[in-house]
Amino acid sequence: MTSQNNIFLIGLMGTGKTTVGRQLARKLKMEFIDSDKVIEERTGADIPLIFEKEGEAGFRKREVSIIDELTQKKNIILATGGGAILNAENRSHLVSRGTVFYLKSNLKTLLARTSKNKNRPLLNTDEPAEDILKRLLAERGPLYEAAADHTIESANNSIHSVIHAIIKSL
Ligand code: S3P
Repeated sequence: MTSQNNIFLIGLMGTGKTTVGRQLARKLKMEFIDSDKVIEERTGADIPLIFEKEGEAGFRKREVSIIDELTQKKNIILATGGGAILNAENRSHLVSRGTVFYLKSNLKTLLARTSKNKNRPLLNTDEPAEDILKRLLAERGPLYEAAADHTIESANNSIHSVIHAIIKSL
């Protein structure tokens, strides 16, 4: 752990960052924060609406500012939005202010998990979700790997085992 004792969860949509983060926080008696939730609270709009009104660029701007703010905290578990890794400033804040865990999943699992909810504007297009996720995995996979202190396989493991693996790596 770094001096700030923070745990940062990164990975694509559907890897379980929020579910794992919330349960891990309960177990470790730490504060859990979901950066997307904070963006929504501050903006007073949900993510699909932010994308609709401000475009992805507007959302990313808000994301950079929130990630900077949240990563300065201590003793938190932070679930980040899947695209946060695209920005160099975010990467640097995550890497230097906490221990970074990449929750890694295969395409089939990501597809199954994300098909259940429509709150992800990047997947709400005419292009098949499978093609989009495949592309995002190819683009972002190397960035997640490079930023991570630890990579945890989250597709074939239960939440309990993922949490156990994280605790063991701390
Ligand atoms: C995004 C992932 C989402 C959310 C936004 C953009 C992305 O977060 O930040 O829809 O670019 O992958 P989750 O990873 O929590 O779904």
